[in-house]
Amino acid sequence: MIDLHSHVLPGLDDGPATLEGSLALARVAVAAGTTILAATPHVDRGFGVDPRAVPGAVAALRGALEEAGIALRIVPGGELAADRAGDLDDDALAAIRLAGGPYLLLECPLTVHAGPLETQVGALRLRGFDVLLAHPERSPALQRDPGRLRDLVAHDVLCSVTAGAFTGQFGRPARSLAQAMLREGLVHDIASDAHDERRRPPDLAAGLAAAGLDGAAGAAMAAYLTEHVPAAILAGEPIPARPEAPRRGLAARVRRAW
Ligand SMILES: [Fe+2]
Repeated sequence: MIDLHSHVLPGLDDGPATLEGSLALARVAVAAGTTILAATPHVDRGFGVDPRAVPGAVAALRGALEEAGIALRIVPGGELAADRAGDLDDDALAAIRLAGGPYLLLECPLTVHAGPLETQVGALRLRGFDVLLAHPERSPALQRDPGRLRDLVAHDVLCSVTAGAFTGQFGRPARSLAQAMLREGLVHDIASDAHDERRRPPDLAAGLAAAGLDGAAGAAMAAYLTEHVPAAILAGEPIPARPEAPRRGLAARVRRAW
């Protein structure tokens, strides 16, 4: 699997404080079946991460992983706060493109008033960057008005939902919106948003199961959201066609009706 959202780099934000913590996180990712992990530290006003420092930090972690014999490919990225983008020049933003491709991972504000998210997305698009929204399901403003998400997706914005949202880790409104987005075909990627090896681990399995995407019935959609679309995002290739939604829910309803 390819996990496009993690705070695996040590000592930059609220991810691991030490290299040992990063290696522990990486080991859990490998055990969970992840082969490629995007390092997406917060690029916001709180942690003060310099985007230009990310590629070097990724290179250092790659070296440490190789030395430790951990078979995980780390690619650079960043979780860009919507209100920070306007302050950064194109070179700074380019340093946190996912794997150097066309996409930026843009954090959806967690405040009630998401503000001019559409304007900020539009400004990034005008500057030549494609946008993958990070955890839109957790944004109170988007929970209140999901129509905004439909419009954004209609304008080629992609959505990455956090796996834990499906298990209820972020509350009922986030779970409801994540489920509704999945039903409506508004989810393009499921990521861990891992911060450590235990409390917020890089493991997608529980989220996929809670979303009904485990087992044979959900396999095609799970592969689409955790392998095929993420691979296209990293490579800058066209987003592949969406497979048919799993029918497990329908079958269960029919069984209940009988
Ligand atoms: Fe994050």
